[in-house]
This record gives sequence, C-alpha cells and structure tokens, in this order.
Amino acid sequence: MQLIHTAAALRTALAGETRTALVPTMGNLHAGHVSLVELAKRHGSPVVASIFVNPLQFGAGEDFERYPRTLAADCEKLAAAGCDMVFAPDVVEMYPVPQTFTVQVADSLANDLCGAFRPGHFNGVATVVLKLFNLAQPRVAVFGKKDFQQLLVIRELVRQFNLPIEVLAGDTLREADGLAMSSRNAYLGTAERQQAAALHGALADLAARLHAGAHDFDALATTAARRLEMAGWNVDYIALRDAASLRPVDAASRHAVALGAARLGKTRLIDNIEIALGNPL
Ligand code: PAF
Repeated sequence: MQLIHTAAALRTALAGETRTALVPTMGNLHAGHVSLVELAKRHGSPVVASIFVNPLQFGAGEDFERYPRTLAADCEKLAAAGCDMVFAPDVVEMYPVPQTFTVQVADSLANDLCGAFRPGHFNGVATVVLKLFNLAQPRVAVFGKKDFQQLLVIRELVRQFNLPIEVLAGDTLREADGLAMSSRNAYLGTAERQQAAALHGALADLAARLHAGAHDFDALATTAARRLEMAGWNVDYIALRDAASLRPVDAASRHAVALGAARLGKTRLIDNIEIALGNPL
C-alpha cells in the first residue's frame, strides 16, 4: 500500500486510472471504515482512502484540535483491508491558499438537523469532498450511512455539479449493545460508554412504535428526546424525516429515517435508523 502526502504525488500515482474508488475519512479508523473499504473494493480499483481532519468543517469550540490523529494504526488497518493507496495530506497541502471559494449548500439542507447545531459544517464538508474528488477523480466514492445528512449533501453535490462519480453508501456498523461505531466513541468515559447505546435504543424504540401503527410523529420524537434527557443526555434533536429528501415525512413517504444527535458530557453522538413505511400514512 502506498502512503501519499501530496496532491502532485497522488495525481502521478493515479495517472491513467479510470476506475478509482475513493473512501474519504478523517482517520482514527474503526471496523465501520474497513467495511467502506471493502465496499469500495467491490466497485473499483485502485482503492484510495483519504485521511484528512478538515478544519473547514469544524466550528469554534468543536473538537478539531483533539480529534484523534492515528495515521500509523490507520495505515495498518487499511493495508489489512486491501486498500491500495492512502492519501494523507496536511492542512497546508489541502489549503495552500486560504479557501475563499467554497461550496455553499442550500440553506434548507445546510441549516437543518445537524446543520442547525453546527453552522458552516456542511459547507466545509462539501468543499473538502469536492477538492478530494478533483484530486483523485474517482469513478466511485463511498460514504457511511451513519452520517446520513452528509450522505445527502454529497449526493446533491455530485448531482448539481454533474460530477461523473457514483456515490455508494455503506451500512452503519454497531457495537454489541447497538452503539453506532464512530471515531468519537473514543472520547466516552466508562460511565458514558455504558449510556451511549441509549441513543440507538431511543431511535429503535421510535421505529418500533411506527411499525406498530403510531402516527403522531412529533409526539414520538418528543418522547424519545425526553427519555434521553431524563437519562442525562443533552439532546440536539430527534426527528423523523423522509429518507430521500430529509423533509418531514408526509403521505407520500415510503422510506423514512429517524435521526438523532445528542451529547453525553462533551461528546456529541449521532445516529439514525431507516424505516420502510409499508402503508400510506
Ligand atoms: O465523514 C467524514 O469523515 C468527513 O466528514 C469527510 C466526508 C471525510 C469529509 O471531511
């Protein structure tokens, strides 16, 4: 596996490739990322994983500085997964001049759900992903469904800028108790870790109530949020949305997603569960 740090070296390494599969990451990799590499391998070659903690997508007071940088361990995991190249630029390599040209995600998507609590986050994600796409020129790119809103932003980026890239979505991997795998789980203390699966539990409970015929979406979400708050969480949101548009579910919705973001101590966790809506609502 090649480890590449510069844009020029990446271009040289990928010259003439037409089936590149890109897996963008911020490193501190876990089994969920490995499963994205495995998905990439089934759809393209060479497989390139990028590792870059992107300052543009972190707000003031967020965890940019303390985000774990674990390049050596990440490379071992990627090599074992059969990844061909790792692109790990530093900030100056990605942003040699101040990034004054940026992607502006539509307000309706950028300021909703996670975006309402992380101003500018999705513009930062879309901007760095567009740069990574331009550098690697992949045929396919793989993202995890755990970041469901991010996945929609990237699908829309590809669609609206006519990028010749197929976006593939990898399923969320979970720990035995249901906690979605995330690099940020490393921040959790022992007691917090024991609590952490409750976010998935609340979303799973909401999904079960929907399947059992409940229809009052707002009440379901409020109940789930209140239960988490009573267990000591600070809830940013619990919401039920149309999975294709992220708009509120309506009579036409056949595929919904229950999404949540909540903080345990200083750690902000997100999760979601997709829900097939069998009958018209
Ligand atoms: O999901 C992530 O790890 C990041 O948001 C991404 C897509 C690599 C962009 O920095």
